[in-house]
Amino acid sequence: MNTDSLFKPFSLKTLNIKNRIVMAPMTRSFSPNGVPTDDVAAYYKKRAEGEAGLILSEGTVINRVSSSNDANVPHFYGADALAGWQQVINEVHTAGGAMGPQIWHMGVMDNHASGWVPSQPFEGPSGLNRPGNTNGNTMTDADIADTIAAFGQAAADAKALGFDTVEIHGAHGYLIDQFFWDGTNQRTDVYGGKTLAERTRFGVEVIKEVRKRVGEDFALIIRLSQFKPSAYDFKLAKDPQEMEAWLTPLVDAGVDILHCSQRRFWEPEFEGSDLNFAGWAKKLTGKATITVGSVGLSGDFFGAFAGESSQPSSLDELLRRFDRGDFDLVGVGRPLLSDPAWAQKIRNGETDELKGFTPQALGELVM
Ligand SMILES: Cc1cc2nc3c(=O)[nH]c(=O)nc-3n(C[C@H](O)[C@H](O)[C@H](O)COP(=O)(O)O)c2cc1C
Repeated sequence: MNTDSLFKPFSLKTLNIKNRIVMAPMTRSFSPNGVPTDDVAAYYKKRAEGEAGLILSEGTVINRVSSSNDANVPHFYGADALAGWQQVINEVHTAGGAMGPQIWHMGVMDNHASGWVPSQPFEGPSGLNRPGNTNGNTMTDADIADTIAAFGQAAADAKALGFDTVEIHGAHGYLIDQFFWDGTNQRTDVYGGKTLAERTRFGVEVIKEVRKRVGEDFALIIRLSQFKPSAYDFKLAKDPQEMEAWLTPLVDAGVDILHCSQRRFWEPEFEGSDLNFAGWAKKLTGKATITVGSVGLSGDFFGAFAGESSQPSSLDELLRRFDRGDFDLVGVGRPLLSDPAWAQKIRNGETDELKGFTPQALGELVM
């Protein structure tokens, strides 16, 4: 297996990375009261030392009272949390890595198993976190404007701290995705609408504000998914035309890279072509894309949440698609939880040394 193509550098605006391996954002809940600790900084530094080219942080929430359902998820606001992030990016840079925070508002959530709840109700386009299930408030125009401003502030802070890029979390059924989906967006104002294109309005305004705050030269990523955790096989865009109508306004608003989240990267997005989500997104928009989903592992990440282990698996199919030009970057999640040196081992062909993934890695920050 020749993996050389994965180890060519990639540059886009402010982003200069030594290879095509991206550590996927993974919530770890090791930041008490929202403040990343020394251990969190050491954990990311280890992945940079192990040659993950670009590290995307775990989702880190913007400055809205109910943007999180978990007291241990990091904030991206407030002096203490931002000082924690400053340490993270300094250590990653010292190790020769590049990094962007994944800025996040969860929207309407189920209550967390810990029992912790924010001091105000969850908020979203229509108070729903899945069809028929209300667990929060419908956002007012003032809530929406303040939330857009908070995304912009988080991005501006990321740039000021020295991060190389920012990823806006627009996937997996959280706030921005709740606006995209008519199952959770029943608004009749400008933020709602019958078509997916109309329901991009909130996401578009977030991107425009972020772009305004970071300037033209700062590389901006958005993460998107067709699936929802409450609807694994759901497709927001049913065909390429609808996907184009979804992605084009987001690209026009100012994103540079589309991070196309799938459970299994090899699954074709639509009938009649073997292109996956990242392949279609690149073909339809001409933008750089990141693929992700079970790269180098036998099982998918929903299985991981159900307590399943995964074994290392071949990268041949990934390389076939990559070398064909379907996508520019490759997101790797669980392998990097268990093994900080995953990228290095792939580059050196040390396949016997790969560790796979075991659920124990979820319970600690493996160093
Ligand atoms: C423990 C864990 C936490 C995750 N947290 C996030 C998150 O905060 N934001 C996000 O966009 N995706 C999150 N994901 C999804 C991953 O980024 C990735 O898309 C998924 O694990 C598939 O990649 P993999 O098969 O290489 O693990 C998480 C996944 C795991 C396993």
